[in-house]
Amino acid sequence: MISAAKPIIGDDERQAVERVLKSGMLAQGPEVSAFEEEFSKYVNGYKCVAVNSGTSALHMALVAADIKAGDEVIVPSFTFAATANSVALTGATPVFVDIDPRTFNIDPAAIEAAITPKTKAIQPVHLYGQPAQMDKILEIAIKNNLLILEDAAQAHLATFNGKYVGSFGIAGTFSFYPTKNMTSGEGGMISCATDEFARMCRLLRNQGMEKRYENEVVGFNTRMTDIHAAIGRVQLAKVEEWTKIRQQNANFLDENLSGVVTPYVIPNAVHVYHQYTIRVRGHDRDKFADEMTKRGVGNGVYYPIPVHQLPSFNLKFDLPNTTAACKEVISIPVHPSLTQSELETVVEVINSIANAGA
Ligand SMILES: Cc1ncc(COP(=O)(O)O)c(C=O)c1O
Repeated sequence: MISAAKPIIGDDERQAVERVLKSGMLAQGPEVSAFEEEFSKYVNGYKCVAVNSGTSALHMALVAADIKAGDEVIVPSFTFAATANSVALTGATPVFVDIDPRTFNIDPAAIEAAITPKTKAIQPVHLYGQPAQMDKILEIAIKNNLLILEDAAQAHLATFNGKYVGSFGIAGTFSFYPTKNMTSGEGGMISCATDEFARMCRLLRNQGMEKRYENEVVGFNTRMTDIHAAIGRVQLAKVEEWTKIRQQNANFLDENLSGVVTPYVIPNAVHVYHQYTIRVRGHDRDKFADEMTKRGVGNGVYYPIPVHQLPSFNLKFDLPNTTAACKEVISIPVHPSLTQSELETVVEVINSIANAGA
């Protein structure tokens, strides 16, 4: 079976963990600070605050931005539930809007149409590793005095107009879940536009304390351990190389797949292919995916149900592009451990299913 995703954990990661275990300093400490400092290079110098998951990063950034009950935050519905959960957990209302069907990312025109006097922020997602249309989103945010919080959970090192994602708004958030382009085991990072915002995130991460037992705000415990940070640092040193391989693999797939819709990349964007997602039209998507699995090619459907329709939200929004994408997408192997012969098998299997009877 050719796996759909494969975390790469080697001796370097094992030695890093061993180093922390030997030091006896397991909780948040020098490894976390070093990880934050090193990550800041990939968000154009934004101040970084490491936390225990991408979900915590989203939630804390919203709280730090003072998003609360009575506010509205515009989000896509074609995403992982955490994007909207984090908004709902602040007491604010997620307002779901449609996507651009070419990119699967939030549609700027739909954002503009959804703005009300209660709107406080836009939370675009850089889905699958492709930057959202940040020039237009920035323009809308400036015109309407809205904050931008980027959900960059899937998009480490992606750029738009030469700028890293996570450095367009007041904050960006990243995930280091094992299947992401880099991992720390579990973990997340908040990139912050200002020192003040970073300080608030640090307070929120640690029960609202900077000085011990002098809690300044009501906070969480969302600290990252030094064990996780040590793994993250090793992976960060490799992620540029892994990203290049993902992009080469994507090029090969672009050039050789037929009978399916391959990813469209917007001008001036660098896609980092967390997922390589095809659209199958004129086929039953679930049968197509099952057939791939039967023939040994792992795959995933991200996401089969629009977030607003999940039982946890159960809301009515008319989002035709989202509904269509949920029925047609399949993410196929693109990860850096694939061999050339595995890539060729992926192409052969997909082309043969897509073009059967043609
Ligand atoms: C778009 C998106 N947002 C948020 C998250 C949440 O990240 P985590 O799983 O690290 O909490 C994920 C990852 O699972 C994601 O894909």
